[in-house]
Amino acid sequence: MSAVSAVSIARPVTEPELEALAELERAVFGDGAYPFFFFRQAFDALGATLLVVGDPGAPLAGYVLGSLAASEKDAWIWSLAVSPDRRGEGHARALLDACEQALFERGAEGVRLHVSPTNTHALTLYERRGYVEVALVKDAFGPGGDRKILRRSR
Ligand SMILES: CC(C)(COP(=O)(O)OP(=O)(O)OC[C@H]1O[C@@H](n2cnc3c(N)ncnc32)[C@H](O)[C@@H]1OP(=O)(O)O)[C@@H](O)C(=O)NCCC(=O)NCCS
Repeated sequence: MSAVSAVSIARPVTEPELEALAELERAVFGDGAYPFFFFRQAFDALGATLLVVGDPGAPLAGYVLGSLAASEKDAWIWSLAVSPDRRGEGHARALLDACEQALFERGAEGVRLHVSPTNTHALTLYERRGYVEVALVKDAFGPGGDRKILRRSR
């Protein structure tokens, strides 16, 4: 893929953008989307690592949510999504860069995430960024929802 990331700047979401964020989530994940109230609570608890790409007032191009973990030194990326009409522009890379940096600055030793074994675009993205598989969890997200756990070090 050839991606142009020069215009892709990840920044913390603002409170008035939370409904637009929930809309983006629905457009990407459909029935599996986090509801609005999830983003409301994530904004309050994890706002510095709930990042978006998009000009204020314009539709959001993508978002990432990460957090430190309560009981381990690795942080987690909870979700990463780019609007279907904005893919291949480098937004996912910019979002991951910014989120990883924020998590490392806050003391994370590594970053972990779940990804479906069939999500080839996401697997390619993560592998190119140095993520390696550390586990395969059967039914991690419910029956039939197997997930790989990938990790990258600081
Ligand atoms: C996976 C996803 C976040 C990628 O977003 P994106 O903004 O298009 O990605 P980028 O433009 O930053 O591309 C980064 C890398 O992703 C991979 N990638 C992205 N789109 C791809 C495609 N259509 N085909 C193959 N690889 C692709 C490539 O490795 C690319 O690197 P390259 O440009 O050096 O080849 C996006 O497709 C998406 O939102 N998918 C649905 C939700 C999802 O699967 N989220 C991840 C859950 S773990």
